[in-house]
Amino acid sequence: EPHQLNYLFALGIQPWQSKQSTPTPCAQPTETLTTLCTSVAHCTACVLHKTRTQTVFGVGNQQADLMLIGEAPGFYEDQKGEPFVGRAGQLLNAMLQAIGLNRRTVYIANILKCRPPNNRDPLPEEVSQCTGFLTKQIALIQPKLLLALGRIAAHHLLNTQATLGQMRGKLHSYGTNNIPLVVTYHPAYLLRNPQDKKKAWQDLQLIHRSLIKKELTK
Ligand code: URA
Repeated sequence: EPHQLNYLFALGIQPWQSKQSTPTPCAQPTETLTTLCTSVAHCTACVLHKTRTQTVFGVGNQQADLMLIGEAPGFYEDQKGEPFVGRAGQLLNAMLQAIGLNRRTVYIANILKCRPPNNRDPLPEEVSQCTGFLTKQIALIQPKLLLALGRIAAHHLLNTQATLGQMRGKLHSYGTNNIPLVVTYHPAYLLRNPQDKKKAWQDLQLIHRSLIKKELTK
């Protein structure tokens, strides 16, 4: 029940979730996304291709109203070819469930499609080589609302250096189509700083309200 999960999330409790079967990394919802995913899978534009196990393109619903954008694949994502499947992903699932959504009703992608070694921060040249893929991915999904997860994603999408505290809690706008965009804490940060879950919960409610107000819930 989404209603009960709200309380669990507010209390910082992660509900039990069943593991999903391993998807084929480029099994995207439409042919155009599959084509883009295949280009990503063959990309050698930056050094990260040398150390990746595989590329991590994106997962979810091509018709999604809400698109989530994280930073870069970590260890488990690099192994599985799917974004947010590690511990941060478990928390992200709980956050989505708290507002009645899940990994199949939204679309999830990252700024970088390859894992930086030892999960270091992405280098500016890696971001600039990679973001053309994300721009095309957003254009194909045409989400009504974007959620930037963490500082790195927000800085790139909003072209700012503001702190996360300054960016969260309000509606921004992305790109020439002015897609409304909300910034919140990265779930990996929330695992280390659970005291900020309250603020993340407020950001999720902003997402929820915006989806309802725009009658975006399908
Ligand atoms: N952190 C991210 O930003 N993205 C992932 O896919 C996993 C962890």
